[in-house]
Formats: sequence, structure tokens, C-alpha cells
Amino acid sequence: MRGNSPTSKAIKKFILHLHPHKIDRRAIVFTRTFGLGGIAALLFFILFITGMMLRFVYVPSAGQAYDSILVIKNEIIFGNLLRNLHYWSAMLLVIVAFLHLVRVFYSQSLFYERRKNWIYGLLLMFLVVSSNFTGYLLPWDQLSYWAVTIMTNLLSYIPLVGNGLADMVRDGTTVNERTLLRFYHFHTGLLPLIMVILMTIHFWLVRKAGGVALPETDEKTSKVAVHPHLIYKEAVVALCLILALLLFSMFVDAPLMDKAKPAVSPNPSKAPWYFMGFQELLMHVHPLFSSFLIPLSVISFLAAIPFFNYSHLKPGRWFYSKNGKTITIASGIFAFAYTFLFIILSDKVFDFNHWFAAWPIINSTGIIPTLLYWGPVFGFMYFLNKKLKALRIEKVIGWVTVIFMAYITMMLIGSFLRGEGMQLIF
Ligand code: HEM
Repeated sequence: MRGNSPTSKAIKKFILHLHPHKIDRRAIVFTRTFGLGGIAALLFFILFITGMMLRFVYVPSAGQAYDSILVIKNEIIFGNLLRNLHYWSAMLLVIVAFLHLVRVFYSQSLFYERRKNWIYGLLLMFLVVSSNFTGYLLPWDQLSYWAVTIMTNLLSYIPLVGNGLADMVRDGTTVNERTLLRFYHFHTGLLPLIMVILMTIHFWLVRKAGGVALPETDEKTSKVAVHPHLIYKEAVVALCLILALLLFSMFVDAPLMDKAKPAVSPNPSKAPWYFMGFQELLMHVHPLFSSFLIPLSVISFLAAIPFFNYSHLKPGRWFYSKNGKTITIASGIFAFAYTFLFIILSDKVFDFNHWFAAWPIINSTGIIPTLLYWGPVFGFMYFLNKKLKALRIEKVIGWVTVIFMAYITMMLIGSFLRGEGMQLIF
């Protein structure tokens, strides 16, 4: 493409329109955002293009879906590469969107005029995971069939509406041919459309807030032109990402097991890796807690963070303060070690069902393990915050770290340390 052709001019104009003309010099330092929002947008674009191409061959019916994946893999020129690119980009998008959320949170970029964008961001995270999950079923192999079965079963534990909701998602009482068609339409139509709309609002709100959050400073700051300073940096990150993805996809195949057998579940049957934290949680507390009360509390807490009443905030300042950084490290290490220990005790020692056989099951397997887990966590956080005379914002940073770390620990244990019969293996 020539540099001054109409198409090239249009692309340039589009990219420049996403940015203001001039920008604070500190905003283009790579470690301010690590380029994660832009990388997420690029991954979405790659997924859109590769997904469109896969659609030419993929057939969304239980009888033909698996075979059409085999055709893509084995018979179409570059078909396997295309499928791998789509699969690995999708997995990377979940990780990158999460890291972007983490960056926004710890760099204190979610307050005041950015509050609304935090909520749009949470919605985007939900959509990224939903898109990934609906795509997971499409190969119709043993891995995807049983992973979706496990996750949709979890939905049915939501009080009052759970069974109806699970049946609505599956269009039946089990995962079936209509589930596949339903997931296909969500995955290739509705979800990407909603994501494009939300991403447009998300970018617009970033511009409306005056770009990325920067800490207040007494020093004089200067502005630089977006073109070439930022655009060239973005181009380098984009090219490196595309190259890395291409190389990875050339050498590592996306998984594909035997064709789905609804009567024979593999051992172990696992949810997709990003939901493994919930499956692990389900093994230790009553489903009402693991699939409803705990996720609902965590999501409500995350959404409410920018709306709490704080005495003082420093948008753009990593971890708010030195204290905030200490609290992050201490609560992160504690949450990892304690969650790990709790899971081993829960597996090998605790037998609440037996010990409290006379109690209603919701108490013995719901309230007791929940209190037993959160009691010491509250105790630790209380003394840590007291010792460091933490402000409210620093306390919130500590609690978010505990939540993230506890989930990541459960996800890692569920994914790597559970073998046949979901037994712990080291
Ligand atoms: C498909 C997913 C997403 C895309 C494509 C995306 C894209 C972007 C981009 C390009 C920026 C500009 C700065 C940067 O690169 O970091 C940004 C900023 C922001 N994002 Fe996202 N984002 C996504 C998901 C999320 C999530 C999951 C959250 C958090 C819940 C979030 C919250 C924010 C906020 C609050 C800002 C403003 C940050 C600041 O001003 O420093 N976004 N996003």
C-alpha cells in the first residue's frame, strides 16, 4: 500500500482520530499502560478477521461441527494456522484484558471522570469471557462439551432462577445440538456486535477524560505530537504481537480431543481454565456460595470501588503510596499461601458434612467453610491495616489483592494440581 493512497490516508485518519493531536510526554512511556488496552483492541481485531474466515468452512451442527474443524485443520491450506491464530488470540485476550484491568486498578485510574469507564470495562471483561466461553463449545469435542456442561450446571445453583437460566442458556436440560447453534450465534453475531459498541464508548470516554490518568506533579511537563511519537510506538508493539502470535500458532496447535460423547465424560472433566477457580471453589463450599453468593459479592464490590467515599485520592499514582505497595505485596503473599493451605486442609482434613451431619447442609458445607476461610483473612487484614495505619483506599487495594490472588491460586490448583477424579496430585 502506497503511503499516500486514499486507503492509507483513511487508515491514518482513523488511527489519529482515536488520539488527541498532542499528548503529555509522560503518557507515552511504555510502563504507564504497558500498551495493554491497545493490545486488547488489536487482539479483538485479529479475532474478528480470523473468525470471519473460519466461518466459511465451520458448520454449526452437532453432526458436522467436529468434522468441519478436521477439514479446517487438515485439508484447507493454512487452515490449521488460521484456527491456531484464532484460538491463541482468544486465550491471550482473556489474559490481556485482565492485566489491563489490573493495571487500571493499581495505577489508580478508575476514579472521578473515569468511574463510568471502569463500569464499561467490567462489562467488556464479562463480554470477553462470554465470547471465549461460547467459542469454546464450537469444536464439539470431549473437552468443549464437558467444560460447557460443568459451567452450565453451575448456573443452575443460582436461587430461584438458576434452573430456568441454565435451561435457557442450553436451550434444554443438557448441552445439545440447539446449545451449539445458540452459542454459535452469540459467538459470531451478538457478542462481537455489543463489544464493538462498548469498545467505541470505552475509547471515547478515555479521550473525554483527557487521555490516560497521570499523577499530579509540581514539575513542568511538556506535550509531544501523537504522530509520530505515540503512533510509531503503537506500531512496534502491534507488529511484535502479530509476529509472536504467528510464530506461536505455527508451532503450537489449539487442543482438539475426540468428538463429543454426551454419554461418556472424560476423567477429570474440567471447566475452561479461566473458570477453574469456580470449579475449585465448588469442591470446598456449597454451590449456592460458589456459584452465586461469592461471585455476586465480588462483582458488586469491584463495581462499587470508585464510588466509595475516600478522604484523598491520587489518580495515576501506582499503588497510591508506599504503604499501598507494602499492603499489596503482604496481602498477595498471604492470600496465596493461605488459600493453598486451606485447599489442602479442606481436601485432606475437613469433613464438615460428617462432623456436622445433624445440621442443614447449607450450614455445614456453606457457612462454616466460608467463615473458616474468611475469619483468618479478616484477622490478617485487620492487623496489617492497623499496623500500617492504612487509609480507606489502601485497605481497598489490599482487599482487591486478596480477591485476585485467591482466585488465581484456585485457578492454578484446579488447572495443574488436579488429576483423575479431581484428586490433588503434586
Ligand atoms: C476488550 C477489552 C478492552 C479494551 C479493548 C480496552 C481498551 C482500552 C484502551 C485502548 C485504553 C487506553 C489506555 C490503555 O491502553 O490502557 C483503556 C483505558 C481504560 N480502560 Fe480499558 N479496555 C478493555 C477492557 C477494560 C477492562 C476489563 C477494564 C476494567 C474493568 C477497563 C477499564 C479502563 C479504564 C478505567 C481506562 C482509563 C484508564 C486511564 O485513564 O488510565 N478496560 N482501555
